Parts: sequence; C-alpha cells; structure tokens
Amino acid sequence: MIQTLVTGATGTLGTALRPRLTAADHAVRAASRSPPEETRVELDWVELDLIEGTGLESALDNVDVVIHTATAPKGDTAAVDVQGTKRLLKAAEAADVENFLYPSIVGIDDIPFSYYEHKGTAETIVEESNIPTTIVRATQFHSFIAELLDSVAKLPLWPLPTNAQIQPVDVGEVADIIVDHATLTASERTDLVGGPNIHSVGKLAQTYRNTRGLRRPIIRFPIPGKTMAAFRTGYATCPDNRAGTVTWEEWLAERYASRADEPTTRAQSPT
Ligand SMILES: NC(=O)c1ccc[n+]([C@@H]2O[C@H](COP(=O)([O-])OP(=O)(O)OC[C@H]3O[C@@H](n4cnc5c(N)ncnc54)[C@H](OP(=O)(O)O)[C@@H]3O)[C@@H](O)[C@H]2O)c1
Repeated sequence: MIQTLVTGATGTLGTALRPRLTAADHAVRAASRSPPEETRVELDWVELDLIEGTGLESALDNVDVVIHTATAPKGDTAAVDVQGTKRLLKAAEAADVENFLYPSIVGIDDIPFSYYEHKGTAETIVEESNIPTTIVRATQFHSFIAELLDSVAKLPLWPLPTNAQIQPVDVGEVADIIVDHATLTASERTDLVGGPNIHSVGKLAQTYRNTRGLRRPIIRFPIPGKTMAAFRTGYATCPDNRAGTVTWEEWLAERYASRADEPTTRAQSPT
C-alpha cells in the first residue's frame, strides 16, 4: 500500500483528493494547520505549519508519495508557497520520498501576478530537488470562479472584467488525474489539465446569474494592466487540453440543486 501525504488537506483540492486516494488503496495522511472535519471520525492527520516549519517530521514519517496542495493565495504566498515548499521538499528528500506531486496553474509563466510568480518559483524549486517529482498544471476550478462571483452577487451591479478568458474545470476531475499520477514513478511534467470549454468572464457570470434566477446587470469593468491583458489574451487557458468533461452549466446546476433544500438559499429572492 502506498503511504501518501496530502498537504493542504482541508483545501478544495485536498478535500477532493482524500477519498479518491483512499478508494485507490493509498494509505492517506492528511496535513494542514487545522484538522479536516472528518478527523473526528477516522483519519491519519498531522498538524503541519509550513511557515513555522512545525510537524514536518511526523507528516513525512514513512511516506512514499507527497501531494503538496497547501497554498495561501490570499495570504503570504512567498512564505507558504515558496519558503514552505522549500521546507517541505527538504524534509521529503530526507524521507526519500519516491514521488513529490505539485499541483500548479496553467499560464503562470505568461501572467504577471505575484501569486503566479511564487507558484513559478515553487515549480523551479520542486524540479531542482533531489527527489523524483511530478508537476500537474490545471486551469481554474469551477468552485474558485463561483466564489469570485458569490462575492459580487450582492451588489446592485456586477462590475467584472468580462473579456477575461477562463476554462473552468471540475476539481474532482483534476483530483482523479492527480491520483492516477500518485504512483511510485514520478512523471516530471504531465499534460495540462483544462475544463471542456473556454468562456469569457461575462458569459460565466451570465450563466451563474441565470442559474440563480437573479437579474442584476453585469457591467464591463476594465481592469488596466498586464495581468488582465494576459487573461484577456487567453494565457490562463489550454485549448488543446480539455481533459475535464463537467461543464460550467452542469457544475452550477449541481451546486444549486444540492442547495435547493437549504433555508438560506430558498430565502434569497430573485433581484
Ligand atoms: N483553486 C483553483 O482554481 C486552482 C486551479 C489550479 C491549480 N490550483 C492549485 O491547486 C492547489 C490547491 O489549491 P486549493 O484551491 O485547493 O487551495 P485552498 O482551498 O486555498 O487550500 C489551501 C490549503 O493550504 C493549507 N495551508 C494554508 N497555509 C498553510 C500553512 N502555513 N501551512 C500548512 N498548510 C497551509 C490550508 O489549510 P489550513 O488553513 O488548515 O492550514 C488549506 O488546506 C494549489 O497549489 C493551487 O495553486 C488551484
């Protein structure tokens, strides 16, 4: 049985990975600063803080494969994504890990954005390490786009960079691909993982609005600068790699179908 450590085990990707790894017969160790909710049931969980460097030894004890999903896009990305990755790799080298998998993001070399620059630096650190590694770049998860739209949904007008191009993908499908690569043989760089369709943010927002039965106007909010220009050019997409099959429309339908019974959702009146 492969002993696999998942860092960032409480995150979006980490949460999707844990049951899939278990189903694929991995012995899963979950790590993050706060325990996943299922810890109360039955889970090999280690408290790991990549900034403090605490918990590394216990996290890596007897581990064959590491899937390093811990990240801090809204926090100190240099400390977590760069320095934290360095610390984790050093411990993984000491533990003779057979395959260190690093999920990353499509287009980070061409999109000047500090989080992406830190992800790029982390990829280099991973590739230059003394252990076999696998880097899997994916496009934005559906849930990530939905959370961004949730944050404007209460505004009377939705100001959005409507021309930015996105290829949203189902996190479960990304997790399935990562699990396929979580073997004792590393793959270096895998094919890019993108969703089935490329949409403008304007189109994604319209579908989101229609699914929720809302009527707020979507207005183009041009964000100047090279970052948004890169998104408009389509650098965050990979048209030749459409491994994901779940469309944005299907994902939204599922999200709101499963919320239909929740009182808070029912209470939201169309506006
Ligand atoms: N989201 C997307 O659309 C997307 C798309 C493509 C690729 N990716 C990549 O996929 C990976 C996972 O992304 P995600 O969206 O699943 O991330 P996420 O939901 O933000 O989860 C981040 C995880 O990192 C942990 N973490 C944060 N700071 C930490 C620290 N100091 N020490 C240890 N753990 C820490 C968090 O748990 P605690 O707070 O409990 O520590 C959490 O479990 C990342 O590499 C990301 O770049 C994401």
